[in-house]
Amino acid sequence: MVVRQPIVCVMGHVDHGKTSILDRIRQTAVAKREAGAITQHIGASEVPADVIESVCGKMLKAFKVDLKIPGLLFVDTPGHEAFTNLRRRGGAVADMAVLVVDVTQGFQPQTIEAIEILREYKTPFLVAANKLDLINGWKDRKTRCFTESLQQQNEMATNLLDEKIYQLVGRLSEYGFSSERFDRISDFTKEVPIIPVSAKTGEGLSELLVLLAGVSQRYLEKQLNIEVSGPGKASILEVKDEKGLGKTVDIVLYDGTMRKNDVIVFGTLNGAGSTKVRGLLKPKPLEEMRDPREKFMYVDEVHAASGLKIYAPGLDGALAGSSLFVVGKGSDLKELEKEVESEIKGILVESSGPGIILKADTLGSIEGASKLLEDDGVPIKRASIGRVGKRDVIDANNARQQNRYYGAILAFNTEADEEAISEAAKYHIPIFREDVIYTLLDNYKKWVELQRDMEKNQAYDKMVLPGKIQILPGCCFRVSKPVIVGVEVVEGRVKPGYTLVDEDGKVMGEIKTIQKDKEPVKEASKGDQLAISIDTPLTFGRQICEKHVMYSQVPKDHHKLLTTKYAEFLSPEELELLKKIRKVMGDTAFA
Ligand code: GTP
Ligand code: MG
Repeated sequence: MVVRQPIVCVMGHVDHGKTSILDRIRQTAVAKREAGAITQHIGASEVPADVIESVCGKMLKAFKVDLKIPGLLFVDTPGHEAFTNLRRRGGAVADMAVLVVDVTQGFQPQTIEAIEILREYKTPFLVAANKLDLINGWKDRKTRCFTESLQQQNEMATNLLDEKIYQLVGRLSEYGFSSERFDRISDFTKEVPIIPVSAKTGEGLSELLVLLAGVSQRYLEKQLNIEVSGPGKASILEVKDEKGLGKTVDIVLYDGTMRKNDVIVFGTLNGAGSTKVRGLLKPKPLEEMRDPREKFMYVDEVHAASGLKIYAPGLDGALAGSSLFVVGKGSDLKELEKEVESEIKGILVESSGPGIILKADTLGSIEGASKLLEDDGVPIKRASIGRVGKRDVIDANNARQQNRYYGAILAFNTEADEEAISEAAKYHIPIFREDVIYTLLDNYKKWVELQRDMEKNQAYDKMVLPGKIQILPGCCFRVSKPVIVGVEVVEGRVKPGYTLVDEDGKVMGEIKTIQKDKEPVKEASKGDQLAISIDTPLTFGRQICEKHVMYSQVPKDHHKLLTTKYAEFLSPEELELLKKIRKVMGDTAFA
């Protein structure tokens, strides 16, 4: 039996400091290098026992922890709400978790979601109350031990901290967890320890690591004493091209062993794929899988838990987010393939209904983006993994036939082929490309808004608007062909081209031109006094007289659009006037 290193999943609300805490432990700066400074993938990094030893020397003694584990494997997860499934996957493979809560913000929606996932998987966890340095009056005492720093703080700061801690205790109890600041706990099996930390100053990280090591050794003994000879089970984090190696997959091996030359089964776009492992590479300790600064080391055999890179022929179609299994003695290839296949079918969308085209780099990204779009009421016609290609443009063009606002491609964390770009330009299909999921959605929504506005304005311009005019006394400039009279716009608006009707709905003729101060104008509105010429067989003084009131003849279909789609463009009086015009024209005109 071998003691494997525990997998510690770091969870919590967006921006509460998960990546920063890991950065501080590793002394790296992954958080700063992330797109939009948010985590959108699962990352994995190992902190070996000797580092824990050196960071926590004193504390290990204080807590009487005798390190037996080879280290801790940290799995960083995204906090943004869209990535429930990535968190879920992180939560599912984790032995333990660190729930990171920004002390100045307390519980937030994804804090609660994380707690629910942890409860569901019965994963033991610690709470890291982060951003301790932001507590009013708190002074950086240049130590990684919270207990040491605490002794040197003033009363106001310690009281303020306690106030924040008890708020967390209160919230945790709502979810059935009894908790306490770690230094006041006597039985760690009964209470969830809360460790005040600061990723910025490093305070509290010593205790955090000690408690993770201690608690995992004491209470996860059975889970960590594994039969390392069993076939490996892993989850694919990312599929990457590596110079000289071709396609490789980054995985978290959470169970069993994986060796060079093992046959593995994994998910691809076309169902399950399988191949033989050619090489296993491990990031050096303290390196982040997603972003190693140095080369990997080659190994022949890896035991769980570990983050590693596999290279093999035939990994081309491998899908990030899918499971990856070693076909070992006693395991059945067909069974494993079936398991992998059903997992993928649940995620990749292909629908005949209306919707946009979604492309992303990994299954996890697709899951995240799909959820966000779904919550926003944007349907997806096809969600698939990879670069934007010509087929996507053709599909988007077809999608536009069903609904013009869906004639768009959303590319999350992935590029577009040259051919796709020129094709898209030809068909006027926008390709939205972003590495930050909610910027992507925002940009798409802005585009839809803009399209709507433009469409509204164009069509609205063609509408016959409600208008009421009255012929002014003593203002006839020509009695026929055309009749030219002075009028006042009593209500609404009139434009050249409008047909005029009288109070009985009888057609009087069409406005040919409108002149204001002898200049032709395109529109006249309430209060304007001007001269209009009316194209009509009628004659002034007979059918058309002084003080005569006339209305614009609003066709039935315009009336309908003006009272619904364009209602916001009209004033309440204009809407009233529309009703009046409808009456004047007679209900038969509207039947
Ligand atoms: P997601 O991965 O997007 O969910 O965020 P995260 O939880 O990994 O947060 P991240 O580590 O990216 O930090 C978010 C912001 O908080 C950054 O601007 C950090 O510099 C800041 N931050 C993190 N920890 C601390 C801390 O202890 N003190 C202070 N003052 N700022 C912190
Ligand atoms: Mg992060």
